[in-house]
Amino acid sequence: MRMKLALVAASTLCASMSVMAAEPVQPIYAATIEDRDKVELGKMLFFDPRLSQSGFISCNSCHNLSMGGSDNLPTSIGHDWQLGPINSPTVLNSKFNIAQFWDGRAATLQEQAGGPIANPGEMAFTHQLALSTLETIPGYVKMFEKVYGDEVITIDEVTDAIAVFEETLVTPGAPFDRSLMGDENAISMQAKAGYELFKTVGCTACHNGQALGGSSFQKMGLVKPYETDSEVAGRSAVTGNEIDRFSFKVPTLRNIELTYPYFHDGAVWDLGEAVNIMGEIQLGRTFKPEETDQIVAFLTTLTGQQPTFDLPILPPSSAKTPKPQP
Ligand code: HEC
Ligand code: HEC
Repeated sequence: MRMKLALVAASTLCASMSVMAAEPVQPIYAATIEDRDKVELGKMLFFDPRLSQSGFISCNSCHNLSMGGSDNLPTSIGHDWQLGPINSPTVLNSKFNIAQFWDGRAATLQEQAGGPIANPGEMAFTHQLALSTLETIPGYVKMFEKVYGDEVITIDEVTDAIAVFEETLVTPGAPFDRSLMGDENAISMQAKAGYELFKTVGCTACHNGQALGGSSFQKMGLVKPYETDSEVAGRSAVTGNEIDRFSFKVPTLRNIELTYPYFHDGAVWDLGEAVNIMGEIQLGRTFKPEETDQIVAFLTTLTGQQPTFDLPILPPSSAKTPKPQP
């Protein structure tokens, strides 16, 4: 009897799995952590403003893990109050991206992590100065030794630890994922209608997979130009091909209700307006207000469990640590 029940349960599970496989959107699962010490070290570095010239800006300044891994600003503010050229994408679920940055100029999270430290408009440091700062902090020397086996700290170790920490920043358990896995009551009728519309009008041509984005570069303004004051070129800056002008990595729609304002120029604060613009310029489709509301209702079911952990307590500087230069 018990055996039979188990078989029935297994076959319904299979049925819901095959339905799931046919969906253009797939659920996210919790991260498996292999090296706890390395993740902990990466978390400390992510939160440590001493990797910046001013001693004031950390990765978390612009990818605030209390705010969906973004800064909720149109474009980021970096060293010396400089306004950056582009909106800060979320670091949540960034491990699903085919490449990093809006134009994909970094192939991996590790390659990406070296960028901001040395970017004069962001953390405005150099890799050498960052390393010589870390080397004067006994708590770090000990941790690097524990994780990487020797006392010499290299930039590859710094960026490796940060990347490994970032790989844990996934957001499973979204109501939509529970619905995909067969929980009929996880999302509202309105959200279900929104998902159907999202598929039938063709949003899933670009926003698909586990992250609903991150898997391709696409023209912004496929059927109608996008109007913006931003001078950012997009993918053509990497490929040198004029045809890639104004192509961007399709952003993830996971946690989208948390990561406003929207688009690479951060010009749009309202999710409904972003949906309407996408309909018009990517698909040549004008939504009725109730259709927009349905899609927005669907998109807000993509907010998953945000990473929770103890705040890292950073090891204190020593007398030898270079003083910050704000
Ligand atoms: C001053 C603000 C600022 C700081 C500090 C900063 N970032 Fe970013 N980050 C950005 C902006 C803006 C972009 C997008 C730049 C672009 O695409 O050209 C970005 C892009 C990224 C991306 C790519 C995400 C994607 O979807 O393409 C990752 C990952 C990331 N940053 C991680 C980090 C890490 C790790 C640090 C610390 C070492 C850091 N950032 C420091 C503003 C910042
Ligand atoms: C042809 C590919 C394509 C299609 C179809 C498409 N999108 Fe997009 N979407 C993009 C790209 C590329 C961006 C980033 C554009 C930019 O910022 O320059 C984007 C951005 C977005 C954003 C803002 C994300 C952020 O973090 O800034 C939302 C919301 C969005 N799309 C929703 C939709 C919806 C809803 C549909 C269907 C009505 C849709 N998209 C159809 C490619 C597409």
